[in-house]
Amino acid sequence: MPDTLAELATEVLTTADGRAKTALSHAHAARWRKSRAAGDPLPIGSASPPLRPARPEAPELLDPRDVPRRRPGSPQGRIALLHAVAHIELNAVDLHWDIIARFTDVPMPMGFYDDWVKAADEESKHFNLVCDCLETLGSHYGALPAHAGMWRAAEDTAEDIFGRLAVVPMVLEARGLDVTPGMIDIFRKAGVTQAVEALETIYAEEVGHVAYGSKWFHYLCGRHEKDPKPTFHDLVRHYFHGALKPPFNEEKRAEAGLPPDFYWPLSDEQA
Ligand SMILES: [Fe+2]
Ligand SMILES: [Fe+2]
Repeated sequence: MPDTLAELATEVLTTADGRAKTALSHAHAARWRKSRAAGDPLPIGSASPPLRPARPEAPELLDPRDVPRRRPGSPQGRIALLHAVAHIELNAVDLHWDIIARFTDVPMPMGFYDDWVKAADEESKHFNLVCDCLETLGSHYGALPAHAGMWRAAEDTAEDIFGRLAVVPMVLEARGLDVTPGMIDIFRKAGVTQAVEALETIYAEEVGHVAYGSKWFHYLCGRHEKDPKPTFHDLVRHYFHGALKPPFNEEKRAEAGLPPDFYWPLSDEQA
């Protein structure tokens, strides 16, 4: 049995099946928490995480331009939307374990690992909640093609923990805060209560993930005497392809420690 956190993380990353990956993720998170509570934390250690995590045979991964678009007003459109969310959640599980395993050469306080283990555990729950919704609606994760580009941000920032924090939690997960209320509305109007509840859980917990990103980004900037705002702008321009898209959820972004002068200058609607 692996006995460092980095090895546990790598075990999740190299497990392909979604339900198996998330079960392992949940078990490993519990093991980490238990070791912390006992005052005898697992060593962080080091590992060789794969450049790309293992993925199930289905869904087929397509270039985003080739993923068919469906109108969210139809039952098939709502299934497609949930399928896309499930795919995002599965990638998010891996992203949170990856930041743990990938950057072990950067010494970080224990709280850094506590936060990302908790986030990975929550993503595992999100994946399963959304898969349960798909199954209730007669579908399943893997039934439709999915976006192949989801891991690109991780690969692009595999050598740069500043870039990883800037792009993954502070740009991509923050974007989730912008779009989730609209998705909740779609399912509320359609009377799909199970999906409304799943998305509300996701929405509430994602604020925390963005906040962890902002917290540890600022921490590292402080350690290296970098000015966080221009550093963030430079990193996003370097690693993120395209402008940020308003409307922004200013309230939830603020709650997560992302002030407007971080993201507005990167948007495509700036004056
Ligand atoms: Fe999530
Ligand atoms: Fe998240």
